[in-house]
Amino acid sequence: MTQAKTAIGIDIGGTGIKGGVVDLTTGEMITPRVKLSTPEGGKPDDIAETTKAVLEQLDADPSLPIGVDFPAVVKHGRTMSAANVSKKWIGFEAEAFFEKALGRQILFVNDADAAGYAESEYGAAKGRDGLIMLTTLGTGIGTALIIDGLLVPNTELGHLEIDGKDAEKKAAYSAKEREDLSWEKWGKRLTRYYRTLEALFSPDLFIVGGGVSKNFSEWSGYVEIETELVPAKFLNNAGILGAAALAAKQKTSPENPAKEQEKK
Ligand code: BGC
Repeated sequence: MTQAKTAIGIDIGGTGIKGGVVDLTTGEMITPRVKLSTPEGGKPDDIAETTKAVLEQLDADPSLPIGVDFPAVVKHGRTMSAANVSKKWIGFEAEAFFEKALGRQILFVNDADAAGYAESEYGAAKGRDGLIMLTTLGTGIGTALIIDGLLVPNTELGHLEIDGKDAEKKAAYSAKEREDLSWEKWGKRLTRYYRTLEALFSPDLFIVGGGVSKNFSEWSGYVEIETELVPAKFLNNAGILGAAALAAKQKTSPENPAKEQEKK
């Protein structure tokens, strides 16, 4: 089967559920982005309903591959953690549940993995060899590890324990807002965080995603590390692009025997 040329990506976040149709050759979104607010409480039923509404508003060809990303560990379609979302997601068959709710096959993946994949295929890491680490700095810290173009999923390095604390509690953008930190003070925390990643992984490039990547020039000067640090090319849209691209790559079309096999 040849790979689709376009696919749908849906990014489920703490505040919004966003979707778009993506051109898989260029990585560009070819429809206006649809965004609806994430329902209060973030329970699976409510999230699936809003996701369905996003899909309806996109009004795209129903045969296109669909990738949905979510802020949790996702193993074979099952969500295994819930750091900033309802605990109902722990050990939940999310992919199967969404397939039922949406009436079509999908691919369900971690949000940072989707963003990292988009950046490596089309964005800041395109054509770069070696070990690339994408970190999204938002409510939590999401990480994606890409080695020579290959994604190592579910790395969860936002939860590294640093000085006895969960790293994302100190260094996510939400910590800056919660504690009203200046860019400089927050930059110091990021220095501690990225230096720990450097010591453990010796990466070749760090990419910063999430909403705060658009303010990159205001704070990046305060991050004192050896490794090159660049903003994500797609800022906050990387999740949509990556989820779409991963879905197309995994060939989620109904006639795909590999996926049917995996479900058994
Ligand atoms: C979650 C990750 C997620 C990240 C960014 C963390 O709290 O554990 O799975 O990728 O937040 O949303």
